[in-house]
Amino acid sequence: MAENIWVRVNGKPTEVPDGSTVAVALFIAGVASRTSVRGEPRSAMCGMGVCFECRVTTDGTPQRLGCQTLCKSGMEITAAHQSQQAAGTSAA
Ligand code: FES
Repeated sequence: MAENIWVRVNGKPTEVPDGSTVAVALFIAGVASRTSVRGEPRSAMCGMGVCFECRVTTDGTPQRLGCQTLCKSGMEITAAHQSQQAAGTSAA
């Protein structure tokens, strides 16, 4: 059985099974990865690196695919819309 690790999703401590992808951490935290141009929440859809709906910032690196990135203990995950708000830009 996998042990759990802790990451932070938009600053919220979130416990996930070791070996989980960032997309799983977002689901557990109840956070959308980004918003559409109309402001609708978007989340991982294909789970295999094709749709790009799971783009987030991990440990300061933007545009990482959450479905293709494994969580590491202590990882900081920031949803795209959170990064855009912090930078003063709109969702795209
Ligand atoms: S869920 Fe489609 S690229 Fe990640």
